[in-house]
Amino acid sequence: EVAPENKTDPGNTASCPPVQRPRRLRRTDALRRMVRETILTVDDLIYPLFVMEGEGQQQEIPSMPGCFRYSLDLLLDEVKAAQELGIGAIALFPLIPHPQKDNFGTESYNPDGLVPRAIRAIKQTVPQMVVITDVALDPYSSEGHDGIVKDGQILNDETVAVLVKQALVQAEAGADFVAPSDMMDGRVGAIRQALDAEGWINVSILAYSAKYASAYYGPFRDALDSAPKFGDKKTYQMDAANAREALKEVDLDIAEGADIVMVKPALAYLDVINRMKKHTNLPVAAYNVSGEYAMIKAAGQQGWIDEQKVMLETLTSMKRAGANLILTYFAKAVALALRA
Ligand code: PBG
Repeated sequence: EVAPENKTDPGNTASCPPVQRPRRLRRTDALRRMVRETILTVDDLIYPLFVMEGEGQQQEIPSMPGCFRYSLDLLLDEVKAAQELGIGAIALFPLIPHPQKDNFGTESYNPDGLVPRAIRAIKQTVPQMVVITDVALDPYSSEGHDGIVKDGQILNDETVAVLVKQALVQAEAGADFVAPSDMMDGRVGAIRQALDAEGWINVSILAYSAKYASAYYGPFRDALDSAPKFGDKKTYQMDAANAREALKEVDLDIAEGADIVMVKPALAYLDVINRMKKHTNLPVAAYNVSGEYAMIKAAGQQGWIDEQKVMLETLTSMKRAGANLILTYFAKAVALALRA
């Protein structure tokens, strides 16, 4: 690109010319690249994937066009495809058949369950892929809650005991990170202690530290058929109005042994990402959740926005806010776009 005229006709100069002309640095693509502050790369991306039982099957999630639940064999193809695009990490979420669900999330710590089998298969086929597993009861809970329910309440400490078993089974199967997303108090510390006691000192914890009670999770709950059977998650997930409380949660998770802390959702919580980044020296992750994905997809399909551009702008805003890592269903699309 040839620079347009660097010099204006003196006759056109304003009578009181500005000393600073910020537009000077925006003149050409080369200049804009020189002063660009935030660069999204494929290394920032974590690709969330849905796994289900069966063989040779993939089901598109209606509220998440372009996202599928994969049976294990096809999941491996998707993980390979992600690796070929340079994506280094995936996060696994299981669709558990209803007969295997109960109030205690018993299936969550079955060593031969869907998630442990998926971890082993991925580690066998694509050993370099970083595997992150969700620690929470909701996909396994007949109540659709992240904890054990008693008299309409979500029990904390009893739930933590199950989460510990779940994390140990995932570590045993080969998970690199366990990621507690349940928001029970004390779970990070309990999991860290149990992992260490069993010798899993190098299994890391990605803590969903500031996880909000959000309406943006709707499509994800469709994907896993995991919506709460009664009430909502407000007695354990955070109130959308609170940001200082996110720092309190982060302090606790760090003291309890978290390696990476996370804010979820991302887009409506960019201020929280920013505050968390300033507050801690740990890497900060942001979860670009299902509802954020669905909104961009829907408007893009209508032709109301340019999906590709809005996707990149949105993810760049998360990184600019301070996120070191972004979980996003757009991971493959971003990797492709960055290649071009
Ligand atoms: C469950 C969990 C949820 C998500 C990730 N883990 C849903 C919830 O808390 O109800 C949501 C992710 C998304 O919406 O993309 N522990």
